[in-house]
Amino acid sequence: MDEQQQKQWLLEHANEVLKRVGIAPGQVVVDFGCGRGGYALAASRLVGEEGRVYAVDRDLEVLEELRGQLPDDMSNLIMVHVKNITLRLDASSVEWILLFDVLHMVEESDLLLHELARVLKPDGQLCVYPMHLSVETLTDDMQRAGFALAQEHYQGQILVFSPQADA
Ligand SMILES: C[S@@+](CC[C@H](N)C(=O)[O-])C[C@H]1O[C@@H](n2cnc3c(N)ncnc32)[C@H](O)[C@@H]1O
Repeated sequence: MDEQQQKQWLLEHANEVLKRVGIAPGQVVVDFGCGRGGYALAASRLVGEEGRVYAVDRDLEVLEELRGQLPDDMSNLIMVHVKNITLRLDASSVEWILLFDVLHMVEESDLLLHELARVLKPDGQLCVYPMHLSVETLTDDMQRAGFALAQEHYQGQILVFSPQADA
């Protein structure tokens, strides 16, 4: 499979991917750079009525497309349009952050990782699909931001980072 086919496969298996990393009922998830929301929709189904998913993007058009796909009963998915990387979420309020094929597009990625560390609970986790980035570059950036690699899935395509206790 080439890179595009892998991306498509993961998206088509979004439910399985998110379940495998550990997203569970009742949790709060931020999908940063959600695009048309394939992963946000899967996360919304996994966390259920007691959970919440914030689908965040800077592009209003993709958020409108996502709105068009939302089933009426999916009230746990909240779309958030951002102009910068500050999230209007409380500190330590989120169990999971998804960064799927987006980090390479963010110019101020250090600032973003700092903001994500703020909203993540101490036992929260950050799940990354680092398309267009080398794993070494990503791991270095994450370490600088205070995250350590905790899990690898799908031959290292999906990486999960945890906040370092001493960061
Ligand atoms: C390549 S798409 C990936 C979409 C989705 N995560 C997926 O894997 O299917 C990247 C998305 O990130 C969004 N994005 C890029 N930089 C962003 C930023 N600084 N703030 C919010 N969204 C951003 C883009 O608008 C785009 O919708």
